[in-house]
Amino acid sequence: MELRILPSGIADMIAAGEVVQRPSSVVKELMENAVDAGASQVSVAISDSGRTMIRVVDDGCGMSPDDAVLCFQRHATSKIATAEDLQRILTFGFRGEALASIAAVSEVTLRTRREEDQTGCEVQFAAGEHLSTRETAAPKGSSFTVRNLFYNIPARRKFLKSDNVEMRHIIEEFTRVALTRPEVGFSLSHGGRDIFVLKPAKSLKFRILDLLGSSVVGDVVDISADTSIVSVRGYVGSPDSARKTLGNQFFFVNGRYFRSPYLHKAVMKAYENLIPEGSTPSYFIYMEADPGSVDVNIHPAKTEVKFEDDSIIFQTLLACIKASLGKNAAAGSIDFDNPEERDMPVIGSRFEEYRPASIPQAGTDPSYDPFAAPAAGPAKEFDYSRYVDKSGDYGRLFEDRPLPSAAPMVVQGRFIIARSTSGLMVIHARRAMERILYDRFIRALSKSAHVTQTSLFPVQINVGAEGRTVFDANARVLSSLGFDIVPFGTDTIVVNGVPEGCSTESGKVEKLMADILLALSDGTSPLPGMMESALAGKLAAAAAAGTSLDSPSAAQGTVDALLSSDNPEFTGSGKRIISIIGADELEKRF
Ligand SMILES: Nc1ncnc2c1ncn2[C@@H]1O[C@H](COP(=O)(O)OP(=O)(O)OP(=O)(O)O)[C@@H](O)[C@H]1O
Ligand SMILES: [Mg+2]
Repeated sequence: MELRILPSGIADMIAAGEVVQRPSSVVKELMENAVDAGASQVSVAISDSGRTMIRVVDDGCGMSPDDAVLCFQRHATSKIATAEDLQRILTFGFRGEALASIAAVSEVTLRTRREEDQTGCEVQFAAGEHLSTRETAAPKGSSFTVRNLFYNIPARRKFLKSDNVEMRHIIEEFTRVALTRPEVGFSLSHGGRDIFVLKPAKSLKFRILDLLGSSVVGDVVDISADTSIVSVRGYVGSPDSARKTLGNQFFFVNGRYFRSPYLHKAVMKAYENLIPEGSTPSYFIYMEADPGSVDVNIHPAKTEVKFEDDSIIFQTLLACIKASLGKNAAAGSIDFDNPEERDMPVIGSRFEEYRPASIPQAGTDPSYDPFAAPAAGPAKEFDYSRYVDKSGDYGRLFEDRPLPSAAPMVVQGRFIIARSTSGLMVIHARRAMERILYDRFIRALSKSAHVTQTSLFPVQINVGAEGRTVFDANARVLSSLGFDIVPFGTDTIVVNGVPEGCSTESGKVEKLMADILLALSDGTSPLPGMMESALAGKLAAAAAAGTSLDSPSAAQGTVDALLSSDNPEFTGSGKRIISIIGADELEKRF
C-alpha cells in the first residue's frame, strides 16, 4: 500500500462533503454569513429546489475586491483571530470553511461592494478554481449565486431526494436562521414564487407567527428562568395544542440553533401526564450561557453543541417549563392580549445585540393577537344515515349482533354499548369512525365511488409556508377524497368543503387540516401499491381524531355504518374496535 497526500482539489471535495450535504446546507451557510455581515435584509432565491440555483443577497458590510477572492480560501475568516477567540464565539461562522466548501462543489458568483468603495467586484469560482475577477457596479452588500450544486460529484447529486424533500430542508434551515434574528427581514422564493416575506418583526412572537402560522403554532406559554449557568426565555406550546408529529421544536443557545435529543427529553418530561402519549408540543427555547461553557464546534454543520454541564440545563428547563404550564393552567387561560407586556424579555448582553437599536417600522398591529383562537363557526349535525348499508345484512361476520330493538348507549362520547345476542357489545367510537372513513376513502381513491361532500362556511387557515408546500403537493388527492380547498396567498388555504363525516365546525376543520397536513408531510413513502391504503389510513385517523358522540341516534348511525364494513372489528392499523362482554364474563364480576 502506498501512502500519499491527496491533491488539494480532492481533499477540498471531501471536506466539503462534511459541510455541504444538500442544497439546504448552502442556504444555511450563506444566510448565516449574511447575518454575520450585519445585514438588515437577506433575500434567498431558489430554483429547482436548489439543484440549479441558490442565490442569497444581503445588504451587509460587503467585501473588498481582495477579500472577495480570499473568502473562498479554506480557513479564511474575519471572525476569529486567536485561540482565545474560540472561547467566545458570538458569530455564526468561525471556521472559514463554508465558502471554500461550497465553491469546491459548485459554480459560484459573488458580487459585492463595501459602503466606502465606488465600484464593486464580481468574482467567479467553479469546482474550487478561481475563474475570474472583474469590476462591476453593485449595491452595498453581497450577493452569492451558487449554481449546479454537486455538478462535479455525480454520486452526491444522485443522493439528493425529491424536490419536495429538498425544499422542506431548505425551509427548515431558513426558519431556523429567521428565528434567531427577528429584527432582520428575510425572504425566500422558489421558482419565482414567494414562500416567505418576513418583515423585520417587533418581537420574536411576531416572527414566529409570520413564519409558522397561528394554526401550526397553536397556543403558547412563555417561559423564563435565570440561573448562574444559563438564562432561558421563549415559548412552549400549551398542552392542548400538542401534536402527533414532530415539527416546531427549536432550541437556540447564544443565538444559534441546535438540536438536542437530551434536552428534548427535559421538555417532554415537563409535559408528562399533560399531553397524550405520542404527541409533542411546539417549543421555541432560547438560552444564553457563557460562550466559554458551550462548545459549538463539535459537529460539521454546527447543529449540535456541548454544554459544560448539561444536566443543570436539563433541570433548569424541566423546572421552568413545568412552572409555566402550571401557572397557566391555574390562571385558566393562555393569551397574548397584551403584546407589549408579553414581548420577549431581554436576556443578557448578547440578547441586546439581536434587537434593533430602534424598533423597525414593521407593519404590525399591536392589538392583533397572533395566537388567538379562531372564532368557532356554526356546528352541523352529522347525518349518519348515509353510511348505512340499507340491505342491513351486518350480522354476517358476527355470531353476535346488536339486538335491533334496543337503542345503543353512549358512554362519555367515547364508547357505544349495545345489547347483543350473547351479552354486551362495546364499540370504541373513534376507532369505529376511523374504520368507516377509511373504507370510504379507499373507495374514493380507487374511484369506485363518488364521495359526498359537505360544504361549509369557508374556513381560512394559515397553515404556514411549509404546510402550504405539503398542501400543494397533495391538492389533487385531497380533492378526490372530497375536500374542497383553494390555496390563498403564500401560506394559507381556504376550506370550502370537507368529506361527509368530518366535522364542519371551523375550529375542528382547522385542527383536522393541520393534522392531515402533518400526516401527509411525514416523509415516509409507502411501498408502491400500498400508497392508497397508507394515505387512506393516515387521513382516516386524522379525520376521526376528534370523534365524540353526543346522542343515541348518532351512536346508532355509527353502529350501522361500522357493521356494514367488511372488516368492522379492526381499524386499518390493526386496533380492535369491538369488544364483546359475554354473560359469563359478567357473571364473574359478581
Ligand atoms: N455575506 C458576506 N458579507 C461579507 N463578508 C462575508 C460574507 N460571507 C462571507 N464573508 C467573509 O468571508 C469569510 C469566509 O466565510 P465562510 O463562511 O467561509 O467562513 P466563516 O463564516 O468565517 O466560518 P464558517 O466556516 O464557520 O462559516 C467570512 O469570515 C467573512 O469575512
Ligand atoms: Mg460562514
